[in-house]
Amino acid sequence: MSFDSRTFTPPNRTKPLLLLTWMAGVMATVVKASSSEVSVARILAVRLLAQNGPLATPATLNPNPAMQPQLRTSRLVLRPFDPDDADDVQRIAGDVRVAEPTAHVPHPYPDGVASEWIASHAPAFRAGTDVIYAVTSADTGELLGAVQLAHMSALHRRAELGYWVAFAHWSSGICSEAVGAVIRYAHNELSISRIVCSCLPRNTGSERVMQKAGFLPEGRLVKHVNHRGVFEDMLIYGLSLPGR
Ligand SMILES: CC(C)(COP(=O)(O)OP(=O)(O)OC[C@H]1O[C@@H](n2cnc3c(N)ncnc32)[C@H](O)[C@@H]1OP(=O)(O)O)[C@@H](O)C(=O)NCCC(=O)NCCS
Repeated sequence: MSFDSRTFTPPNRTKPLLLLTWMAGVMATVVKASSSEVSVARILAVRLLAQNGPLATPATLNPNPAMQPQLRTSRLVLRPFDPDDADDVQRIAGDVRVAEPTAHVPHPYPDGVASEWIASHAPAFRAGTDVIYAVTSADTGELLGAVQLAHMSALHRRAELGYWVAFAHWSSGICSEAVGAVIRYAHNELSISRIVCSCLPRNTGSERVMQKAGFLPEGRLVKHVNHRGVFEDMLIYGLSLPGR
């Protein structure tokens, strides 16, 4: 990918920010009578600045919408999904052991859903909201799983991580290896500096993937999701990367 976060020049947002800074000063002066009111004005000014975004906020996290680059690790090639992957996706994600702990994989897995899902990837990539990778074997090309950055925000330089791996390949480090490559891509080429990930407390394999990737526990949301008919807790993990 030709984008280089070190040389990227953001759009000129200096004027609106100067105006907001001036407004903040005016607000602080107007309410000078009471220090608590000054604090309120400062909070409002900070909120205004936050809404406008920092100077270096790009319009989108995806600087080159035409191209989702391949990523390589020692055992894996991560590439965009292809329409021809649909049958494999249905077979792998249609396994109840893969689908059950996830929030979005349906079970049973209906015909046609895999093709629709794959067709949604390119528009989402162009919009800069999601990047989804097919995780394949570097030796054989076999589809092994998927890793996704979702809900990407240019303002917050943030994304949510999700993944699944074919049951036959669990616990051989496939997901961790793929997640590592996606994190490096997100940081180096998309300037993402925070990634969040969540799982059910009973999903030990997923929690372990997060821990091995350097995510830290940030909380437990009690009975947070209606998971296939049962209210369950969610564990929240976060990864802060250089740049915040
Ligand atoms: C979660 C998932 C993607 C992990 O894939 P994976 O390729 O097996 O992951 P890795 O091998 O890189 O790491 C898994 C780690 O969890 C450990 N683990 C797996 N199941 C475990 C269990 N029941 N108890 C304890 N540890 C477990 C493995 O030993 C490994 O840790 P280690 O390397 O320290 O030994 C896979 O289990 C999966 O597809 N699950 C269903 C979909 C899913 O849950 N997605 C995430 C939704 S939040």
